[in-house]
Amino acid sequence: MCGIVAYVGPKEAYPILVKGLKRLEYRGYDSAGIALYNEGINIYKKKGKVANLEEFIGDQSVVGQIGIGHTRWATHGKPDDTNAHPHYSGNGDLAIIHNGIIENYAPLKEALINEGHTFHTETDTEVLIHLIEELQKRDNLSIEEATRIALTKVIGAFAIVVMDKKDPGKLVAARKASPLVIGIGDNEFYIASDATPIVEHTNQVVYLKNEEIAVLTDKGEFSLKTIANIDQTPFVQELDLKIEELEKGGYDYFMLKEIHEQPKTIADGMRGRLSAEEGWIRLGGIHEYENKIINANRLIFVACGTSWHSGMIAEYLIEELARINVEVEYASEFRYRNPILSENDVVIAISQSGETADTLAALEMAKEKGALTYGVVNVVGSSIARITDAGSYIHAGPEIGVASTKAFTGQVTLLTMMALSLAHKKGMIPKSEFSRILAEFENIPAKIEQLLQSCDSQCQKIAEQIADANNALYLGRGINFPVALEGALKLKEISYIHAEGYPAAEMKHGPIALIDENMPVIVTATNMGSYEKIVSNVQEVKARKGKVIAIVFEGEQEIKKMADYTIEIPKTEDMFTPLLTVIPLQLLSYYIALIRGCNVDQPRNLAKSVTVE
Ligand code: F6R
Repeated sequence: MCGIVAYVGPKEAYPILVKGLKRLEYRGYDSAGIALYNEGINIYKKKGKVANLEEFIGDQSVVGQIGIGHTRWATHGKPDDTNAHPHYSGNGDLAIIHNGIIENYAPLKEALINEGHTFHTETDTEVLIHLIEELQKRDNLSIEEATRIALTKVIGAFAIVVMDKKDPGKLVAARKASPLVIGIGDNEFYIASDATPIVEHTNQVVYLKNEEIAVLTDKGEFSLKTIANIDQTPFVQELDLKIEELEKGGYDYFMLKEIHEQPKTIADGMRGRLSAEEGWIRLGGIHEYENKIINANRLIFVACGTSWHSGMIAEYLIEELARINVEVEYASEFRYRNPILSENDVVIAISQSGETADTLAALEMAKEKGALTYGVVNVVGSSIARITDAGSYIHAGPEIGVASTKAFTGQVTLLTMMALSLAHKKGMIPKSEFSRILAEFENIPAKIEQLLQSCDSQCQKIAEQIADANNALYLGRGINFPVALEGALKLKEISYIHAEGYPAAEMKHGPIALIDENMPVIVTATNMGSYEKIVSNVQEVKARKGKVIAIVFEGEQEIKKMADYTIEIPKTEDMFTPLLTVIPLQLLSYYIALIRGCNVDQPRNLAKSVTVE
């Protein structure tokens, strides 16, 4: 959600900023802009992608060794050239880039207008830079002090970088709720929303903590304090990120690359955490709290979007295998509905980015109410990973495609391990059975590899047949119901086809009215316990001339006779089927979006990492 990049040091800033913005574009792509200091602050900004900005700049001379850049996901004000960041202060001496929302911008704006300020944009960000200017002017403050005091007056979330033409050679960076990381080079600093623009320059980084403000200069000075004015010591960490992970690696889109990475990312997520031979699962983060979790009143999963679907799968698995009470909540609802929580509850946040604002806020509330908090996160060092009492990384590597794929299967892998581990600890699975199940679990990456080979061209062909649909229905039962929700979400977010996921039996209670010959119905029919019931559901769809695309186990015959298309997946235990059934759903969405000419990696209106409410 808005990408920030900035540089101060001896090099020319423009190429660093543009490359950094391209790396960050997955966070937002409504507009892009850059400010450079060269005897004054020059701002270049344009609606649309970073490529539009480059085209706009063309042959203009863009010189300066200090600069800030921004790629926007619009909140206040439409996406256009004017509302694009950076923004000047009223006197043009200051420039700012901002990720987040200043919630009290309206009263601040009114007060500033009364002081004689004039605003040129619809953004909350412009209000903040005018406030900084006003404080600086009124009390003759340094840029860092004016920024710090201004930040004590704003309500909301922010990651900002500010530059001052009267104090060139200095950048001021601060954050609250939105992430910011500082890369330390040789007498130079890189600032960014995440480490992706930094990794090719340095692997020494400092993750700013909540409500910290840093001052970085072209002399290599780095000072850090809290917004409340308490000095801090920067904690320098080594980045564990490889540049190849940020490239498309020969694929046309990151999404396709990430779909194909899943055998590896799932294996990475399991590595060192389970052994079928020796019959154990060990999730480092959980170990210390395992008894507390087993004896918890409830496990409450909080998440958004795809991560919420993973939470639903966890509910099926943990209740079935470990017989522990589980609830799954949308973080955005949970945080505002005053839920009953006690020290005997465990709140488990699932998040790819580790930065989703609602999930973070839900955790903060859970902590206040005394619950143990646990994070299931992909991005190492992210806010959720830091604020939870314990947690486990899914180790899926950077996910750049806006539509989540490998993070979903990484989450499901980890949550399946969690369910099995809790069940084992409770003595619910006999030892020999446990080893047999784990041996099958270890086979899953190879089965996904096999499935990717076998279903890719089939998914392309099916996509050609259904790409013109206006609506689609996804059905599944039991543990594959959340997969149906995930399939529908994937389709709507990247191809803009309206899609709904339903428990198959619920179809009769309403959605069946929508079925006609134009309605593709994608049915996951692998649950052995309820197979006959799914057969009946498929018959109901066919009786109304719906187009059935069925995902079945290899060798299955009955549904194959009725369905218009069948996609076979390798046989496995019911509990592992989501890791396989989701693969053709991801590919179908991908190919449908391609056929419809959509930008698969950067779907309209969306952004990765939703750091605003
Ligand atoms: C869908 C998607 C979103 C995210 C959601 C939560 O493909 O990517 O629905 O799953 O915004 O994000 P995280 O997992 O980063 O908290």
